[in-house]
Amino acid sequence: MGKVISFINLKGGVGKTTTAVAIAEFLTYEFNQKVLVIDLDPQTNATILLIDQDTWKKANENNKTIHQMFFDELNGTKAFDIEEAIIKRTSNIKGGNNNLHLLPSSINLIDLSDRLSELDKNHEINNNSIPILSKYLTQKLINRYDYVLIDCPPNLGLITLNGIYVSDHYVIPVIPDILSTYGIPQMLNKIESSKRKLKRLNPSYNLSELGLIINKMIKKSGMHKRTLEDLRSRQAKPRKDSSYVPKLFESIIYQRDASSNIADFCQTINTVKKKYGDNFNDYKNLTIEFMSRSNL
Ligand SMILES: Nc1ncnc2c1ncn2[C@@H]1O[C@H](COP(=O)(O)OP(=O)(O)O)[C@@H](O)[C@H]1O
Ligand SMILES: [Mg+2]
Repeated sequence: MGKVISFINLKGGVGKTTTAVAIAEFLTYEFNQKVLVIDLDPQTNATILLIDQDTWKKANENNKTIHQMFFDELNGTKAFDIEEAIIKRTSNIKGGNNNLHLLPSSINLIDLSDRLSELDKNHEINNNSIPILSKYLTQKLINRYDYVLIDCPPNLGLITLNGIYVSDHYVIPVIPDILSTYGIPQMLNKIESSKRKLKRLNPSYNLSELGLIINKMIKKSGMHKRTLEDLRSRQAKPRKDSSYVPKLFESIIYQRDASSNIADFCQTINTVKKKYGDNFNDYKNLTIEFMSRSNL
């Protein structure tokens, strides 16, 4: 059974995309798993990290992105075919990997986002508008993979709800500073209320938290150290406590060197170790924890 896991945070810039893509690459290259990444963010960052510009342009021009999936739903057209849209060899490590697939996003989704959020505001969200992705991402398709990782936009709008509706679990990447962690309890409340909404559509729906992933930690920062200690003490609190936070992944991802080029797809790289440099062991351990937590 393939596991579906969403990467969520209502803030941008915390590392949802970078962490999702890194875990996807470690799962495939280091642990021989078969992975599908779904890029639900109109910013298309996961897409840009996994395929080259020309491949993306071609997919976009031929309506083979998730933009078409939402467009069809809003306009009653039927151009989207998920089998055709999934790109079956991605990544810039060793020239790509046949076990790392991508359902790409499109910047055109920005235009649809407004229309989709209007639906949300007018309470037109119903049995038709949330399960859009679930109509295409069938259990049979999910089971072709060991993991389906969903990179969500930084909100809990209709697009993200589509992602969490098909997910078994979610993780929250965070930067260990005061501003980035301040809103965690409110975010958990919002996710819980979204879960209740989704449960009304499907009573057997369930979504569980896998934990917080600490990203961009600065070793020398006293503030980061204090925030980390604070988070560690709060994970032991009861779920109902207002300062509760989900269990932290033990492996911490440190702020990488400014010379790192992991965000540049054009660089051809021969090994995972070369690509992730000093972060290699931390990502590898994080991926091991990720596999064991999602299989509990
Ligand atoms: N561990 C890290 N060290 C340094 N830079 C990072 C790290 N993780 C992410 N970044 C950078 O931070 C920025 C935001 O990351 P991103 O993954 O796009 O966040 P999000 O998806 O939450 O908006 C990007 O420029 C990314 O390359
Ligand atoms: Mg992102």
